[in-house]
Amino acid sequence: MQDLELQLNGLTTQQFLDEYWQKKPCLIRQGFPELEFPLSPDEVAGLALEAEVPSRILQETGDALGWSVRHGPFSEEDFSTLPPERWTLLITDLEKVLPEMQALIEPFRFIPDWRIDDLMISYAADQGSVGPHLDEYDVFLVQVQGKRQWQINNRRYTDDEYLPNPDLKLLSTFEAEQTWVLEPGDILYLPPNVAHHGIAQGECMTCSVGFRAPVYDDMLGSLADFLMDRPGTHPRYRDPNLKSTDRPGRIANSDLRQLRDGLKRILEIDDAAFAKWFGSYSTQAGLDWVEPLTRAIDDKELMIWLQAGHGLSRSTASRLAYVEQKNTLLFFADGQSWKLDSTHLAFIDRLCTQFDYDPVELLPALEQAPELTRLILELVNAGLLEMWEEA
Ligand code: SIN
Ligand code: CO
Repeated sequence: MQDLELQLNGLTTQQFLDEYWQKKPCLIRQGFPELEFPLSPDEVAGLALEAEVPSRILQETGDALGWSVRHGPFSEEDFSTLPPERWTLLITDLEKVLPEMQALIEPFRFIPDWRIDDLMISYAADQGSVGPHLDEYDVFLVQVQGKRQWQINNRRYTDDEYLPNPDLKLLSTFEAEQTWVLEPGDILYLPPNVAHHGIAQGECMTCSVGFRAPVYDDMLGSLADFLMDRPGTHPRYRDPNLKSTDRPGRIANSDLRQLRDGLKRILEIDDAAFAKWFGSYSTQAGLDWVEPLTRAIDDKELMIWLQAGHGLSRSTASRLAYVEQKNTLLFFADGQSWKLDSTHLAFIDRLCTQFDYDPVELLPALEQAPELTRLILELVNAGLLEMWEEA
């Protein structure tokens, strides 16, 4: 797919973030003025026949539940028995299924990778929609083919305003506050929790660049595991000033205070440990898209490969990140961490930014720094970096 240039209604990316990000919806007419979407509806439907591709079909039922959902993989017969209207096929993690689709995420990387979740595509038959709903994350809805009417409502909704549907959280009381029809190249940005309903006008396709924001409860669980796995002594509750009691069933409030203070102290970890935990936590890949090499290569084979003029490319399913610290860098790849000298900042930054790596660029860096060679070798053997030959 072509490289895309994003136009934000004449705003700089920082102005967009200041004015709209996490604050209010933004309609961006012709955000991608040159968009030529390379996939046909048939090709998208073809993906849903494959077992490893996460797909769903949502169909309007006309009953009290409103919509039904079925999970893929689907068969050709499933598609041939669908009605001509009011259904939608959804495929998530599209950039992992088809790496060239990373091109649609790329223009949004003025927001850091750790906040980006995935690219989803929807194909809708005429009048197809997934029902009015809220999402808990930011999303850019990019119209890539045909027309879709979007209706939004920015008010809060209460628990009793949902359809009695156990599979889909859809609103029963949705009313449009604003309505637009989006055409190819148009983009609608929605912050979390803005109710929206997108109805296809004729068949259409929409791509959603979805974001993620960690839930604190979930982080707490992961941080607790990290703390328990750390080597060394694990402080235990102590009470050298214990007071004698004649009410053995009572847990004293002073004991509770001391327990709570102890827990707070445990969570006060230093910046380096916190960065190590969060980098690992946030780069953990949710799905098994990456396969380690069946026969691991060694450093000599890697260097021969690069010296022959071949490059490496990064799997679009990999999650890489780094944190800068005093004199050191913490580099993360799919939940693992490496401590490196800060002189490697430019190299690591490029590794995390790019997806294709030229041998001309890699070789001098690897020849000078054995720790970088070891790192690249580990990433290749883990399947995060793939070896490619110039066509
Ligand atoms: C769609 O593409 O139809 C649904 C996307 C969304 O509502 O988040
Ligand atoms: Co949505």
